[in-house]
Amino acid sequence: MKKPITECLKEKKISNKPVWFMRQAGRYLPEFREIRKLNTNFIKLCLNKKLSSEITIQPLKRFDLDAAIIFSDILMIPYGLNQKVEFKKNFGPELGELDFEDISKVEEVAFVEKLQPVYDSINEVSQNKIIEKKDLIGFVGAPWTLLVYMINKQSPKKNLINNFFKNEDLINKTLNILEKFIKLHIKKQIESGATIIQIFDSWAGLLEEKNLPKYIYEPTLNLVNYVKTLNIPVICFPREIKNYKTFCETIKPDAISIDYNVDPKLIIKEIDIPVQGGLDPKILLSDKENLKKETLKYLNIFKNHPYIFNLGHGVLPETKPEMVDYLVRLVKGV
Ligand code: CP3
Repeated sequence: MKKPITECLKEKKISNKPVWFMRQAGRYLPEFREIRKLNTNFIKLCLNKKLSSEITIQPLKRFDLDAAIIFSDILMIPYGLNQKVEFKKNFGPELGELDFEDISKVEEVAFVEKLQPVYDSINEVSQNKIIEKKDLIGFVGAPWTLLVYMINKQSPKKNLINNFFKNEDLINKTLNILEKFIKLHIKKQIESGATIIQIFDSWAGLLEEKNLPKYIYEPTLNLVNYVKTLNIPVICFPREIKNYKTFCETIKPDAISIDYNVDPKLIIKEIDIPVQGGLDPKILLSDKENLKKETLKYLNIFKNHPYIFNLGHGVLPETKPEMVDYLVRLVKGV
């Protein structure tokens, strides 16, 4: 049997509706919280081969998902570049000052050495029987989103810090370095067993349309073309980008992941590549009846289109695992 997500991406198959979720391994699972409680340093947890591969597998033991996504974080790249990265309780990520001298000194061997446990963990998961007929998703943050964290030093929520664009020289040079190391991180994940790459551009929505070519189109196109040369499908998630249609026509990824503000009826008219996601993760906090109604809405709209079922953003920590189970069964028709 072939892998259902790969089939959807490569052969544009529409008869099966594969399913996986962003943040499927995470805080809504009691078995994750148990490990997390004992491992207060999030970066160290991502770099613990045994635990990170176990966490990656956790949701697959419970639900009939078609992919595992490796338990890591997009901020492992700034960490690998020796910028300080910490995850604070009830606050999220906090980064140290971006010092160009420091990040420009980092050599590829040193970067790979620092992140080696991530690659070892991918390798470990790829050999697990549970993944035999499923995809293993590797991922990176897009250059723009990583730049946002590296300069802003914390999640921007709604706005960037004042003077974000002040030092254009620093921005340009950092984007160059990011492109080189993101490519390296992609290559290492694929060599270790990742069968699909997803590029997360979580802060694409912060940019005005006139700035999209420089910060999103150009750097993302370079990455997508690079993944294509490695013969691995690539999914893009430019969350809340102003124009999904132009993004797809310019970048031509193997699939586009849509956020929950996108009108699925409109997107199906505008886009002919495979589509992923859309359902608002908050729907999982309501009741089964409502969840069923909304899920069938997406399945119906995309019934004649290659479609990977997913959410419009990550699973929320308050989600009951029972609702995730119900959702997977609905998509699988069981
Ligand atoms: O999807 C998965 O299950 C795989 C693992 C994964 C994590 N982060 C684990 C994680 C993935 C794919 C990410 C990507 C990521 N990380 C993104 C892109 C997707 C998105 O959410 O927009 C971003 C922006 C980050 C940066 C990040 N990491 C933030 C802002 C936070 C804190 C706030 C939050 O929402 O949790 C994290 C921490 C993080 N990354 C957790 C997990 C499971 C929670 C850590 C904890 O237990 O406290």
